[in-house]
Parts: sequence; C-alpha cells; structure tokens
Amino acid sequence: MRKLPLLFVGAVVGALGCGGGSSGPPAETDDDFPLPLAAGMAPTPPMGWNSWNKFGCNITGDFVKRTADAMVSTGMKDVGYQFINIDDCWSLATRGADGSLQHDPARFPDGIKPIADYVHGLGLKLGIYGDRGIETCGHRAGSEGHEVQDAMTFESWGVDYLKYDNCPDPGADPGPRIQPQFQAMRDALDGLTRPVVYSVCAWSFYEWATRIGNLQRTTSDIKNEWPSIVANLRQNQNVAAYGGPNHWNDPDMLEVGNSDNGAGEVTDVENQSHFSLWAIVSAPLIAGNNLFDPNMSPATKTILTNKEIIDINQDAMGLQGVRIWEDGSQSLWGKPLNANGARAAVLFNEGAAAVDMTVKFADLGLAPGSAKVRDLQAHTDLGTFKDSFTTSVASHATATLRIVGNEPPRPKGSTFLSEQTPIYAANGLGPVERDMNNGATAAGDGMPIKIRGQTFDKGLGTAAPAAVIYRLGGKCSRFTAQVGVDDATAGQGSARFQVLADGEMLFDSGNVNSTSPAAAIDVDLTGKRRLKLLVTNADDGSAQDRASWGDARVECDP
Ligand code: GLA
Repeated sequence: MRKLPLLFVGAVVGALGCGGGSSGPPAETDDDFPLPLAAGMAPTPPMGWNSWNKFGCNITGDFVKRTADAMVSTGMKDVGYQFINIDDCWSLATRGADGSLQHDPARFPDGIKPIADYVHGLGLKLGIYGDRGIETCGHRAGSEGHEVQDAMTFESWGVDYLKYDNCPDPGADPGPRIQPQFQAMRDALDGLTRPVVYSVCAWSFYEWATRIGNLQRTTSDIKNEWPSIVANLRQNQNVAAYGGPNHWNDPDMLEVGNSDNGAGEVTDVENQSHFSLWAIVSAPLIAGNNLFDPNMSPATKTILTNKEIIDINQDAMGLQGVRIWEDGSQSLWGKPLNANGARAAVLFNEGAAAVDMTVKFADLGLAPGSAKVRDLQAHTDLGTFKDSFTTSVASHATATLRIVGNEPPRPKGSTFLSEQTPIYAANGLGPVERDMNNGATAAGDGMPIKIRGQTFDKGLGTAAPAAVIYRLGGKCSRFTAQVGVDDATAGQGSARFQVLADGEMLFDSGNVNSTSPAAAIDVDLTGKRRLKLLVTNADDGSAQDRASWGDARVECDP
C-alpha cells in the first residue's frame, strides 16, 4: 500500500463561501471549459432503476408501471434517473411457435409493449433483460441463436436498454467462449433502427466488453452487505482507465435503501458512502430499491436524489474517478470535473472509528495554493483553504467534496512529463511512477526504466490499463518517447500504447510484448489542450503488463 504523505491540516484563508484568495500570479486557465458532452448513447453513466436487487423474480407489469410513477413522484426523474429496467423472470422458458420470446402471462398479462408505452408516456425509458446463452440465470429462454429475432422483438416493443446476462455458468476462463455470444447481440442491436443501450453483464472485466457494450460489469453480483459493496468498488478500480463515454465500468447496481425493511444489513451512513463512491467512479447509477412511500425512507431518498453528487457522476469530462491513495482503512478518491480547476474528491474511512482525514490539493492534480471546498452531502460551502483540507470522517463514512482550485501550470520549454503534474492518472497496479518503471504495488517501488536493454533515466512507469492526462494549454508542439513493455517483466507481459490529444488518436503501437523493440513516438501537439497517454491490455490483463514510457517529453512555448 502506498504510504499516506504527512498530514497537513488545511488553514482556512477565506470566509465561508468566499472565492479566490490565492496569492501569486494568476494561473493560466484552459479556456475550453465546459467541454461538450460526448456523442453516443451513453455519454454519461446510465441512471435508472432495476427490479433485481430488491425484488428478484417477484415482479409484475403493474408493479413496474407503479415504480415508473414513483420515479416521477419521488423527484428521481428530475435529478436524472431515466431507465426503468425489468430484470430476469419476465419471460417464459419456452419460445413461441414462431421462435419468439414469450412474456410470462402470469406476471405480465398485457405483455411488454404497453409497459414501454406507459413508461415512455412518463418521459422515461424501458430496459429489459436477456442472456447470451440458452437460458437466463432464472431458467427462462436465452437468446443464443436467436439474437436477431430477439433484438427485433425488443425493438417492436419499444425497448431502450438491454441488460445481457452470462448464464448458464460459463465455467473457468470463459472470455474467449462468451465473447462471440455478446458480440452476436451487439451486431443484432446494430441492425435495428432504434437505439438500445447495451449493458454487458459478463460478471468480470473483459477488454472486449469495452468495445461491445455501453456499460460492462466488472464484478460478480453485489449483495446488500457492506463487505460486498466495498469488494465490488475495489474490483472495479484497477480498470479505471477503460471507463468513459459509451463504455462505463459497472461495479453492479445500487443496494442503497435495501435495508429499509428493518433487516439492517447496511446503515444509512454506509449507503451514503456506497452512493458517493459509485458516483465518483462514474458507475452507472441504477437504483435497486423499493421506491414506494413509506418503503423508501427519507434518508434513502435524500441519498439517491442528491443532485450535487449525481452531477459529479454525470460530469461531461467523462473520466472514471480513481483511488488516489490508500493508507490502511482510509482512502482518497478523485475525479477531474468539467470546469477550470474543478475536482471531485471522496475521503473514505473504512475503519471502525472516526478519524481526521486530509485531501492535499496536489494529490488531485491541482497546483499548490488555495482552493474552495464544498461539502456535497451537506450542500455547504466550507471555505477557502490553502494546499489541503482536513475533516473528521466517521466510521464507514465519506466526505464528498467539490474542490475548485488552480489547474497545474502547463509544461514550459522542453520538459520531461515526469516533471509535470498530471490532472488525471489511472493505473492498473499501484500509482504511475516518475523516472522508474512500475513496481506493481507501492509508490516508488520501481527500478530504472529499461526497454530491450536500454536504460532511461527519465520517463513514466505505468501498468496496463493506464491513462495519464496532462494539460498543455495549447502551447506545445511535440511529444516524444520510447515505449515498450519493461524488461522487468522478464519475458512476460504485453500492452498497447496510445497517445491522444483532445480526443484525437495520434499514435497507436498496436499490441506489443516484452520482446517487441521499443517503439518511437514523435507526434505533433500544435494547438492541443490535453495530452492523454493510454495503455491498454493487449490481452485480457496480466500482472506483468508493465508499460514504460522512456524519455517521455514535450516541447512547449517558454
Ligand atoms: C445474474 C446477474 C444479476 C441478475 C441475475 C438474474 O446473476 O448478474 O444482476 O440479473 O442474474 O437472474
């Protein structure tokens, strides 16, 4: 685990709610904020409700319609929830004479189309559930061999979202066997005129799923138990570099509010943490609770409809928040937001007692100096603080903050990226290293960067999947580096290096492994505002995918 740096208690330098206050020259600003929303079907993480977590197979068409009503009357629709998703058990085990999927007449006597019409009439969208195999997990007919027919059936009903499941249990190492089945439904959906959001539910992260789905499950099924919620959060975070518009990592649906029946498994404090953490990691916000009064408690409703926290989830910059550090049972999570100098931060205390926790602004990729801090749970401006902010965080609680300071200075002259502050750094194993390779676990645990015997004193040590973003301020002309799988992997590992600027792909190494020669990058950055270094898994991921960027440097105006 990376050691927490020395705690600095932030000094209040301004009155509550006051802005500015920083000394020194005014920082250069990016003048392209706000960035526009991405195109596509899921430019931000999908938001909605799904029947499974609370109700399992115990659903009816009437219940789904009343839940849609509740999504409107509770105010959930107003804060962005959109999809009403019917999970497993809406259909029969056998197909009709024409081979088509059949709704279960006992649960959905009028079929699915009237429900879709009803939901659409409320300004909402309808989701349904299917399966890549011969049967669903609830032993209803699966779509294997019927993908086109089923997609057309869904379209004829007016379905807007398909969650596509992974039964029957595919056994060990299933990736290559299940990929064609998920792809077959992708192809079938592509043949429709109706846009359908595609939720790939393959129970684990697969790189191919990021190209097939609009969201991809990274975990096994969540349970309404605190350890399960935390485990899914952790499992989802190593692949943060893959999260983004139209391909969101999905640590599974929300359990917020599912202890309202008195079972008491998860407390309101834990539910708030669950929601804040799902929000900052840009997870789809699919509620899974009973929305009816009085089943949905005021506390649950407050959590689920917190617009300020939803805003950090739906932020158009489209980055998955990352765990910036973890020290024992405390961690800091951060995410750049779509405004100059703006970051979301969640301080998370998994420990058994309250503890003072500190977010250093530099850890969020901000320049040192003052920043305004707002508490998004309390909807309160806390003031302007210098360099850091410290607050007490209760056991299993979070502090959910919006922090607005100064972007780090752009690079000046000819400079190594290892001497710059990235505004975002996601990495598969431990932190991104400066001037050493990635040692896989803790900060500073690497060795000198070495690619096919050549040592580099300067550079970045990443481990796939990684994404590192630097601001350029439109003042740089060139990026150069020598990249490859580091010699430290001793003949193993593979990776794919890509360089993007303002969303444009400037370099793509293709898949390389530990015997591929170092690839030379030399790309033009003229006028670009943000440089993104991306490393993806050339295969489905290995602890040896340690990817080094030797001599990574930019040429910029003085
Ligand atoms: C799987 C999925 C769940 C749910 C059930 C339904 O377990 O992962 O989210 O859809 O099937 O049977």
